[in-house]
Amino acid sequence: MVNQDQKLANIINLGREISEIIDVDVLLDRTLQIARDLTNADAGSIYIKENDKLKFYHTQNDTLQKRLPPGKKLIYSIFSIPINSRSIAGCCASAGDILNIPDVHKLPKDASYSFDSKFDELSHYHTRSMLTLPLKNQWKDIIGILQLINAQDDAKNIMVFSKEDESLIMHFANLSAGALERAQLTRALILRMIKMAELRDPMETAPHVNRVAAYTVEIYEAWARKRGISRDEVQKNKDILRMAAMLHDVGKMAVSDLILQKPARLTDEDREVMQQHTFLGARLFADPYSNFDEAAFKVTLNHHERWDGNGYPGHINPLTGEPIQGYETKNGKARGKKGEEIHHYGRLVAIADVYDALSSNRVYKEAWKEDQVFDTLMQDAGKQFDPEMIEAFFDSIDVIRNIAERYSDK
Ligand SMILES: [Fe+2]
Ligand SMILES: [Fe+2]
Repeated sequence: MVNQDQKLANIINLGREISEIIDVDVLLDRTLQIARDLTNADAGSIYIKENDKLKFYHTQNDTLQKRLPPGKKLIYSIFSIPINSRSIAGCCASAGDILNIPDVHKLPKDASYSFDSKFDELSHYHTRSMLTLPLKNQWKDIIGILQLINAQDDAKNIMVFSKEDESLIMHFANLSAGALERAQLTRALILRMIKMAELRDPMETAPHVNRVAAYTVEIYEAWARKRGISRDEVQKNKDILRMAAMLHDVGKMAVSDLILQKPARLTDEDREVMQQHTFLGARLFADPYSNFDEAAFKVTLNHHERWDGNGYPGHINPLTGEPIQGYETKNGKARGKKGEEIHHYGRLVAIADVYDALSSNRVYKEAWKEDQVFDTLMQDAGKQFDPEMIEAFFDSIDVIRNIAERYSDK
């Protein structure tokens, strides 16, 4: 076991690492992983404060994870609990103090809270020791709750969370609360940009972009695993990819309302203007200030290319919209990018975007039945979509369905 000084030094480095993460979901996942590693906890959850409630937002559980086939993820649903002294997390959020409970089944007689065993019963898990602490921002406002479950010794026996761990983990919780608040702010800004696009194009809604972003990352992870891409690499990329995927249609802001909201069928000319949303979006990120700009550039530009080469805008210069020399077709247009000529970020978002469009209600159509959507995706593997990525999509189908529920239109 590492001593406390080493742990403290570790925490400072880990704090630096999480402060670089820009996406909320990626940040919460990493925060929970680090907090569990620091305390040797088998499981844990994070709740986020939303108005006067705590939203159960993320969870990890090694014991349950080991019961799943390799590569499969834990599926859990999102729920909210009131902030009051009746639940353990609620009590921590209202009092703002750390709660170190040796055994949730032997709570002190005068405790105002009780342990909710529903999750344990459903999942056949046995919660015993629990460390619950508030995530406080620099103004000491509570923005969430971190809950660690079943500390273990080296032989995996469940033990009580140690007193020394309390102060270390509190220190880490403060660092992650700062990072979380920044990530929430970034996401809110992006959603505000989407809101502006939504005013123009009613199909680009916040739930749609949240789903597309989350699907994209799931397909990416499953695809990268098969390709043997390292976990570190995936971890690093999925942060920026998630944010970039949210902005896939941001270029529609530059397309006229007359076309975006035309009640009639689009003419060929209209369609050509509409298709410009790809490179008009890419132009916003053409001066790469960060990895995020580069990723957003690739996503916006490539998300309508097709694996078989029949997509758009093809081999163009995004700054002029003109074909790149040597890539013109007979009619002077740009040849579509084909197969791996299309950046993989574009190939991933293409699947996520079409899957979501088909499975959602739109003004002009009802949501398709799931079977029908799956058939279409399978038939289009190798035509519209990268076949390996379609495989990765179906490998992740349980998580994908769960995302649809989490970010439903209602
Ligand atoms: Fe698009
Ligand atoms: Fe879209």
